Order: sequence, then structure tokens, then C-alpha cells
Amino acid sequence: MTPTTPTTTTVAPVPDRVVVHPLGDRGLTGTVRMPGDKSLSHRAFILGALADGPVQVTGAAPSGDVRSTVAALRLMGARIDGGPADAVVEGPLREPSDVLDCGNSGTGMRLLAGLCGGVDGLSILTGDGSLRSRPMGRVAVPLRRMGVAVDGRGGGDLAPIAVRGGPTLPLDHELSVASAQVKSAILLAGLAAAGTTRITEPGPSRDHTERMLRWMGVHVTSAPGEVAMTPSPLGARPIQVAGDPSSAAFWLVAGAVLPGSAVRVTDVCLNPTRTGVVDALLAMGAAVTGAADREWGGEPVGDLEVVAGELSAGEVAGELVVRAIDELPVLAVAGALGGGLWVREAEELRVKEVDRIDAVAALLGALGVLVETAPDGFRVPGGQSLTGGTIDSRGDHRIAMAAAIAALAAAQPVLVTGFGAVATSYPSFLADLAALGGRWEAA
Ligand code: S3P
Repeated sequence: MTPTTPTTTTVAPVPDRVVVHPLGDRGLTGTVRMPGDKSLSHRAFILGALADGPVQVTGAAPSGDVRSTVAALRLMGARIDGGPADAVVEGPLREPSDVLDCGNSGTGMRLLAGLCGGVDGLSILTGDGSLRSRPMGRVAVPLRRMGVAVDGRGGGDLAPIAVRGGPTLPLDHELSVASAQVKSAILLAGLAAAGTTRITEPGPSRDHTERMLRWMGVHVTSAPGEVAMTPSPLGARPIQVAGDPSSAAFWLVAGAVLPGSAVRVTDVCLNPTRTGVVDALLAMGAAVTGAADREWGGEPVGDLEVVAGELSAGEVAGELVVRAIDELPVLAVAGALGGGLWVREAEELRVKEVDRIDAVAALLGALGVLVETAPDGFRVPGGQSLTGGTIDSRGDHRIAMAAAIAALAAAQPVLVTGFGAVATSYPSFLADLAALGGRWEAA
């Protein structure tokens, strides 16, 4: 194994057209330290701005999505000094002085909508073309039940959305879709209520908000699929952000399927609500090892290793979909190169940054693999040889990175267009690819 790559705070801009070269018989080898988790980073800045004093946030994601949330919080009066690697955030928050631009981030918009629900005054939230097409009714409906006025295009389902906030009512709510974003929006609005807010959901969505609230001294009880929070002031405790398992997923898949690979990813958040990709790979016979052995800000953290081998057929459905939702595009690549993959009960993929069911089919289709799609998922045939070709990311960061991983196994170089979207979540992806022995160039 080669030494760990240094943590980068300034990252070169991500080129928009990238040619990724096949590895041939060489695998990827070495160690990469994961950038801060995007979900945790949004929450660290938001909860930090609500705390009863300055909060130090270290290791936050240097990503475009998180930058949008930081900019929004500044418009709400938060003082945020320093860069993502080491920042200090301090409230109090007030009515924003301008429109909050959430960029490409569904998490940013939904969490901020909940936050604004508890802030006196009017907040207007918007975002890029992709975000303005994503459903916001799922947060508008519960927020209205908490006494928050929410409006927007399509009766409040589409951004720009307007939130008139203030003191809220505690809520007892049953989510129809397992969504950490919606659950977190309700919890954030519930912090401005005078009683306990309770939420049940059909699956175990990521519980970062609950854990971080607890870390800051708020009384939160939770079990898979249910949470109850009794609001109280948030204690200003430092938050060290664990590495992003969704970013690690690209190297875990590459390491598992590309012959000759041995890859180690370090400082990864191993919260069980996020490790569905590891469980899916293990069920397919991948040699992934490692476990959490430390805790940062209430989150389990550890290093993982993977060595290449044969993969059997995989199936992802039910609660595993929720725990692997963002990793399904790259798992599809594992399926094509391994023994196949059947994903079902994953209709949520249709309302991500792009329709990821169609985008996965187009990605693999561009390399000669015929993917069967369904309203709620897809079936990827196994044992495929991938041709070269051109893949359009459709502006989706995870499709772009999944395409780059597929390209490593292709017969010819692959051009990925719209690769710049990667800056949304993992600006140092290409540097890490090179550190592990992959070859790419801007086109
Ligand atoms: C996230 C929750 C998930 C996930 C997204 C990040 C979060 O979305 O897909 O990338 O940070 O809460 P849903 O809550 O819509 O499932």
C-alpha cells in the first residue's frame, strides 16, 4: 500500500470534459483519505449556527453543495470564519437579507426550509435547474402542519419556495417516504417549538441530525424508523466531520471489481445508516474488511480495505435501498463487471439530481451494456465487457464518478462530459484517482 494522500484544502477546479483511461491488467492500489461527509457538513454548519456559542467545525466537505449552505447561513446573519478544513460558525440567525441560493443541493434546500420555518420572517429559497425540478411538497406539507407558511411554484412543490417562519408547533408525523432530508427539516423546525416532535418513517434513513443534536446536548431518542426530540438550547461543542462513505463507495467498487486492486479508504463515517454499499458488496462476495474504531462528533469512524475478486449476483431492495441510495449508480457498475445487479423498490432514484434510473441505463448503455429499467429500479446483466465511448453525466456528480469507475474497466478510453458536476460533492476525485494509479486527462 502507498502512503495516505494529504488532505487537500484547496482543490484544482474539476474539468468539464475528462478522458479516463482503462487500467488494463493493473488494478487500483493505495490509500486515500476521504473528504468530509457532505450530509454531516451541511448539518454541522446549520446546527453550529443555532448553538449557544461559537462552534468549531473541522474537516467539512470542500464541496459546492456545502458552500451553498454556508453562503445561505451567512445571509441569515451567521458568522462563518475559515475554510472547510477548519471553520468557526456562530449565530444568531435572523430573517435572510436576500434569496437563499441552494445551488444543486436537495439536502441544503430541504434542511434550510426547516431551519427557516423556525426563524422569524420571510425566507425565499431557490437553486439551479435540477433543484428547481425536485419535489419540495414533502417538506412543505409537514412544515405547514407545524404552523409555518410555505408557498412556491406548483402550490409549494417546486422552488423557488417562500417560507414564513416563527415559533412552530410540535408535530407528530408519519413520513410516507423514508427521507433524512424531510425528517431533518421537521426536526430543525421543531427546535423552535415548545414541545416534543415525533416522526416515524418507513425505513431507516440516515440519522446524522439526531446524532449531532444529541452531541450538542438536545434530548433525542431514536430507534430505526422513529425519532422523538424535545427542544432545548444547543451546546457549542466542536464537530469533527467524518469522511464521506458515498465518496468512498467509488473506490470500494473499483477495488472490488478491477483485477489486481487493493485499496484502503481512511477516516470514513461508518454510521450503519450509510453503509448499505458495504453490505451490498459483501453480499456479492467482495473482500471488504474494516470496522469503526473511533467516534467523531457522535459518528462511528473507521478505515476500510478492499481487494479485488469475483463478484456474484447482487440484489438491492427494501431497507438496503435507503442505506445505499446514493451509491446505487456505482453499484450498477459493480453489477455489470461482476455477476449482475437487480435494484428494486428504489423509485426515489427518479427524483435525485437527475432521474438516476434512466441515467444508469444510459451510462452503461454508452459502454455497450443493455440495462433493463422499471419504474422502481433496474436490472444490470453481469459478466459484461465494456466498450469505450462517451458518457454524458447529465450534470449529476455521482453519474459522472460512476462513469469514471466504469471507464477504468473499459476496452478503450472513455470521454465523460459534464464532469465538472463532481465539484458538487468530491472536488478531489480526480486527484484521488491518480493517487491510486488511474490515468485521466482533461479533453
Ligand atoms: C441526504 C439524504 C438522502 C440522500 C442525499 C443526502 C441527507 O436524500 O440521497 O444525498 O443528507 O439528508 P433523501 O432524504 O431525499 O432520501
